[in-house]
Order: sequence, then C-alpha cells, then structure tokens
Amino acid sequence: MPRTLVAITGASSGIGATFARKLAPEHDLLLVARRKDRLEQLAIELSGAHQTRVEILQADLTAEPDLAEVAERLRSDDRLALLVNNAGFGAAGRFWEAPIETQEAMHKLHVLATVRLTHAALGNMIPRDFGGIVNVASVAAFVRNAGSVSYCATKSWMTSFTEGLYLELRGLNSNVAVQALCPGFTYSEFHSVMGVQRDGLASPAFWLTPEEVVQASLEGLRSRKLFVIPGWRYRLLTMFLTKAPTALRLAVEAISSRSRAAALQLPSAGPRQLP
Ligand SMILES: NC(=O)c1ccc[n+]([C@@H]2O[C@H](COP(=O)([O-])OP(=O)(O)OC[C@H]3O[C@@H](n4cnc5c(N)ncnc54)[C@H](OP(=O)(O)O)[C@@H]3O)[C@@H](O)[C@H]2O)c1
Repeated sequence: MPRTLVAITGASSGIGATFARKLAPEHDLLLVARRKDRLEQLAIELSGAHQTRVEILQADLTAEPDLAEVAERLRSDDRLALLVNNAGFGAAGRFWEAPIETQEAMHKLHVLATVRLTHAALGNMIPRDFGGIVNVASVAAFVRNAGSVSYCATKSWMTSFTEGLYLELRGLNSNVAVQALCPGFTYSEFHSVMGVQRDGLASPAFWLTPEEVVQASLEGLRSRKLFVIPGWRYRLLTMFLTKAPTALRLAVEAISSRSRAAALQLPSAGPRQLP
C-alpha cells in the first residue's frame, strides 16, 4: 500500500520542520519553503533515518506562479493525507509606519496562500472523505496588539476561516478534519526573522518548544479538535480574552500593547508634527 503524503509549508525551520521530523516515520513528505538548501538538508536527514520519500518544492507563497504550482501539486496527488499551512512571519511596527509591502506580504502569506492551498487540498480530500488540514494561527488570533496589527488580524482570520470550514465539513458528516493550531511564544527562528530579541517578550514559563506545539496538534487531530492551544497558561489566557467584556478586554490589550511596545523598542509616537 502506498504511503500517504503530508504537505507542510514553511518546513525549512521551526514548527514546520518539527512537523516534518515527527511525521516522517509514517508518511511521505512534501516540504515547501523559499530556502532550498534548508529543505534539502532536512530531506537528506529524514530520508536517511526513515523509509520516507521527501519531495521539496522551493516556493515563495506570496508569488502567484509559486503558489499556483504548490496548489496544483496538492490538488492532484491522491495520497494527500494532511496539509499543514504553517508558513508565516511576524513584523514589529505600527501599521501606518511600517512598510506597506511587508503588511501586504503578510496578508498574502497568511490569508491568500491559506485560501488557495486549502481549497486545492479540500477539493482533493473531500471526494475521498479522507484527510486533514492544520492551519497554524496563533494565540495572537484572540488578542489585538499595537505594533502587530496585521499579524493579529491575519491570525484571527485564520481561526475564523478554519471554524467556518469545520462547520461545513460537519454539515457533510465528512471525515476530513480541520484544526486551527494556536501556539503562544515558541522557540524558533520567528523572532530573529522579525528582528527582535526574545528576552523581555515573556517570562520563560510562557515559552513553548516546537515539539510541544506539534505534539499538541497531532493529539488534537486524533480527537478532531477544532482549536488546539498548547499549554495551560495560554488556554487560560484565551478563555479570559474571549469571555471578557469588550471594555475590560481593551483595557488588558492596552496594557499589553504598552509593554510589548517597550519590549519591541518601538519609538514613542511623540507629539504630532504640524507642517
Ligand atoms: N514562534 C512563535 O512564537 C509563534 C507563535 C505563534 C504562531 N506562530 C506561527 O507559527 C508558524 C511557523 O513559525 P515558526 O515559529 O516556526 O517560525 P520560523 O522558524 O521563522 O518558520 C517560518 C517558516 O515560514 C517560511 N516562510 C516565511 N515566508 C514564506 C514565504 N513567503 N513563502 C514560503 N515560506 C515562507 C519560512 O521559510 P523560508 O524563509 O525558507 O521561506 C520558515 O520555514 C508561523 O505561521 C507563525 O506565525 C509562531
């Protein structure tokens, strides 16, 4: 019997590479990211250690031709068992001060690439009534923060999108599972890519390892859980944020925005300069 295929975007580091390592013993892999050398290294490591066949696809998922190529690959392989929409990045800076190109690239990657790849994968999985999709969102989906407006908004979109799909699939009694994975601070390259120091962002008790995040996701897939929030501290926090009255939530978000602005060393807004 042919091995099933797992496709992972953003597989060249962090959470994506950890999904690949965890799933390699049981599945063939399709690894997607921009850094080909990293994907090649991982492919050599995993195909050497397991029976897995690893295919790599170098793709910038904000670029239409690359996105179309990955989508076509997902649509046409009837061994596809799991898609992990994991590629993502953060950016620090007030929305109107940050370069618009970065804000747009983030929306393309977190929103449009997720739409395109999920559509392709579900078109393949639903007729076979088999498979699953993990959308890697964030705890940031449940909180707004000055200095990461687009990040919180796009991750919030991911959770809303996944919940809508969950309802459609449940209406069909489908065996295809969808999950919104919502990690908090996780050790990976995320913060160095963002250009910020990890120290000062959160106390060590709040930091997760990628292994903890991936373990929680895979357990959640087995029990067909819609929202997976690794770590009890984050589950408590999101419970509070989603249940608190708006005024209280805004007060908490304002305090958190101030301490985050200090940790990210955002320049103070200062008095408005009149011409
Ligand atoms: N680390 C955290 O604290 C944290 C918390 C909550 C949620 N998350 C989410 O977890 C996911 C994985 O992040 P991570 O923590 O593992 O960070 P990471 O180590 O920086 O990994 C990000 C991955 O995304 C890929 N990527 C970025 N832009 C891309 C593009 N345009 N096209 C294709 N691939 C692209 C990167 O590969 P290339 O550079 O090779 O393209 C890399 O493999 C992200 O969606 C992030 O928002 C992270």
